This record gives sequence, structure tokens and C-alpha cells, in this order.
Amino acid sequence: MTDDFLWWQDGVIYQIYPRSFADSDGDGLGDLPGIMARLDYLQELGVDAIWLSPFYPTPDKDFGYDISDYQDVDPRFGSLADFDRLVEEAHRRGIRLILDMVLNHTSDQHAWFQEARRSRDDARRDWYIWRDQPNNWQAAFGGPAWTLDPLTGQYYLHSFTKEQPDLNWRNPLVRQALLDVFRFWLERGADGFRLDVFNAYFKHPHLPDNPRKLGLRGFDRQHHIYDMDQPEMMPLLNELRHLLDTYPERYAVGETYMATPQKTVSYCGPDKLHAAFSFDFTSSNLLYPWNAVWVRQKIEGREDVFGAAGIWPTTVMSNHDLPRAASRYSRGAGDDAQAHMAMALLLTLRGTPFIYYGEEIGMRDIALKRSEILDPPGKKFWPFYKGRDGCRAPMQWDASAQAGFSTVQPWLPLHPDYPLRNVEAQRADPGSLFNFTKKLLALRKEMPALRRGDLVFLEDTPPSVLAYRRETAGEEVLVAINFGHSPASFRLPDGKWEVVLASGTPEPPGSLGPGQVCVMTN
Ligand code: NOJ
Repeated sequence: MTDDFLWWQDGVIYQIYPRSFADSDGDGLGDLPGIMARLDYLQELGVDAIWLSPFYPTPDKDFGYDISDYQDVDPRFGSLADFDRLVEEAHRRGIRLILDMVLNHTSDQHAWFQEARRSRDDARRDWYIWRDQPNNWQAAFGGPAWTLDPLTGQYYLHSFTKEQPDLNWRNPLVRQALLDVFRFWLERGADGFRLDVFNAYFKHPHLPDNPRKLGLRGFDRQHHIYDMDQPEMMPLLNELRHLLDTYPERYAVGETYMATPQKTVSYCGPDKLHAAFSFDFTSSNLLYPWNAVWVRQKIEGREDVFGAAGIWPTTVMSNHDLPRAASRYSRGAGDDAQAHMAMALLLTLRGTPFIYYGEEIGMRDIALKRSEILDPPGKKFWPFYKGRDGCRAPMQWDASAQAGFSTVQPWLPLHPDYPLRNVEAQRADPGSLFNFTKKLLALRKEMPALRRGDLVFLEDTPPSVLAYRRETAGEEVLVAINFGHSPASFRLPDGKWEVVLASGTPEPPGSLGPGQVCVMTN
């Protein structure tokens, strides 16, 4: 590893959904001490940082993304003392901690909202957004974005569920209070933050109707030009960055709402966010299938935009809002070839990789009956959309009862494949996705070309093959992926190429089995 290793740029970030990772106290919900007990595992895997989805007090109307106190830990997940221990133990292993900041909205149970709704002239009234009549804005989780509060006869704005009222960032007291939240966690040792839907913090001051467009659901039937991406966001990002820069090597990554690469880079830079998600590889569908052509287009699209702007990209294949990549692309329960491909892309493209817990063993989404659905948009839009519970199932540690996640029945069902697909089994199998991931993580550490190298495509490959070189002065790595169902071969660039890692049965350099990934050095 070189001396200029910058953790958030060169490192790999592992997302943990705390309630699904490891349950230490037998209540069926994962918790902070559970995570602490698994830090050795994360160190063994070789990740550099953890992003923790929310663990703050919450009434769980959106499973933690509705926070009722920004400066505490929900007792079901532990305590502030547990958090402090987690920071200490993670740091001792060289692992940084990134916290999820959900600051577009609070829970309706937050003391601020409880006070705000008491009367029209309450001192906290203006901490939220109230109107006598709603405009046409729609909530992302269905229905109007406004709910009438009968006590005071006014509507309040909520971009998600009605239990998540939007904060009024135009109020200087709100801005101050929320910047203080960052300070609170920075002082406790947090290394960075993931900002939930940050580009929706500010709404147009006059709250005009959004123009209409064609779309399926109400939310998709309008252009979101007044309810997000307002110019006031930039000075706020400047202020936040200034705050972060008063501490050494702190980081902020934004969840860009309705992301495009262009929009994403506009929010990043030396006086703005360090990074923001562009979600380039999460949108393949029947029209744009997962294949060499689509993936290459996506890589080129983002390389053009991020490269020209000099902004460091992020790579995401899975997260707590999406069907897992292994479920999206696999051809059957036993097929891990696609999961190897997705992992190879995640860890060898230019950008910071974000691994979602369980992705390293190819965990699949669970299937739920309607009566089992917990996620609000899933309840609302069933059967057209079944919500996000599928990708939030408990981590599959071993083949014991409850998969080593808990001693009791977990909050969401385990995937029935856990007796075979689990960390323990994959550790013992040299050909597993777990061992592939671990080796690739080790290679990234060894080879600067895999972290900072330029990305150059190999031309003249068969249509099913995607191949690219990552190169720095003095070091070259070649990654080749066969998306096809039959063997393929391609002409290697000049040099003495050696296979350092491959999925499936080894092939000579320049040859690939169906669905095979191969990493070579020169
Ligand atoms: C984005 C988060 O990723 C998602 O899980 C949440 O439901 C919404 N923001 C609202 O906070």
C-alpha cells in the first residue's frame, strides 16, 4: 500500500443495515454490540470503512429513516456508550465509521415537530413547512406530499411518509441545530457522513406547483424542479465542508435524489461534498439488460462526466433501497457467476466501492407474502411494487438456527438458502464469492493501478466480453468479463499477461468461460 492512501478514495466502504447484521441481545433485531462482535470479520474481509444506516431513536415508520432524536442511540440498538466503544474498536482495526444523516425530515415524534404542531405561533412552528392549501407536490412513497394537521388547520409538507415531516432549512435556527448534529457526532469520533436525500433539503421559497409530465405513479408524473435541487444547497454544502475540514480526514457522501452523473458532480468538489452517489449500475431492466454493451455505456457515461469535472466517482451495486445485485442479475438460485461479475466491476472500476452487507456472499432478496410486508411503499403499491424488505433480510453467518444472526426469530425472515449460503460455508470454499471478494480487496490494497489507475477499454473484444485496463505509470491490470453463455476469447494487448484472479475454472489468459471474470497483470 502506498503512503498516499486516502481512506475514502482508495478504500472500500461496507454498508451495514444495523437491524439486520448481528443481534447480540436476543431480541431479533441487530444492534451496535452485535456489529462490534463482527469487526474482526470485516477486518478479515479487508474493508476500510463502515457506513451505518440509522441507529438513532425512531418509531420505525421508515425503519430508522424517521429519526426522533438526532443525538442518541435507540435503546433497541444499544447506547451512546456502545457507540463510543464501537468507534474505538473500529479505529483500533483501522476501520472508519460513516454515519447516516437523515436531515431532510424528522420523525413526527421528534420533540421539534411535537412542539411545532401545538399552535400556529409556536416558536418551533417555522422549523417545518406549513401551508393553508397544498400545492401539487407528491410524496415519493405515494399520495400527496401534504397532510392536514387538524389541531391547527394547516397542511405540513412531507416528501416521504406522512410521519416524516420535512424540515425548513431556510430557518437559520434549523440550519444551526442540524450543523450542531454533525458537530456532536464528529466530537464522538465519526469519520464521515452519508447524507440522505441531501439535494431535497431546500424547496423553492414560494412552493409553486411542479410542471406535469408522463409517468406511472403520481410522483413520476411531474418534473421535480421546485421540490429539490435549489441553489441554496450550494452555500450550505460550503458551510458543511468547512465544518468537516476543521477535523482531519473527514468525509461526506451525498445520496443524490433522482441522480444523474451531471447532477451528482455538481454537488461535489473541494468546497462541497467529497462524493455523491450516481447509481450508474442499478437501473438495468428489460429494456436495458445487464450485458457487456449496457455496462460499458454506463461506465463511459460516468467516466466522461466525472473525468471532465475531476470528481471521484462512487460505485454501488446494491443498497437498502434496491433489489440486491445478485437477485437482479442471477440466472437461478445456484448461479453465482453474475454476482462475481458485479463484484468484479464494483471493486475494479474507477471510484470508491460501496459493498452492501451480505453482497460478499451473494445474498439474495427474500420473497414476502403481502401480509409480511413491512416497508411503507411496499404496503402502498403492492403488487406493482413490493417494497424494500427483500434486500434487508438478516445476515447469513452460518448454518445454525437463525443463521448465527440471532437466538430468536429475526424481525424479517431469513432467506431459506442460508443453510448453504453463509459466511462460514463460503470461507471454507476456495471458489466462493466470499474468497473472490477477499482476494480482490487484497489486490486493490497491493496495486495502486486498481485504485487510482486510468481506465482504458480494450477494443475488438467479442460483443459478450467487457475488458478494460487500469493503469498507472509502471503498473497495469486487465479485467475481462464474459457476459455470454458460451466461451469467448479475445486478443490480449502486448505484454506478458498473467492471471491473478478468476472466477470459475481457470482458463489461459485471453480465454474466458461462460460468465467468467478474469483479472490479469502484466
Ligand atoms: C433515502 C433512504 O435511502 C431511504 O431508505 C429512505 O426511505 C428515504 N431516503 C427517506 O429517508
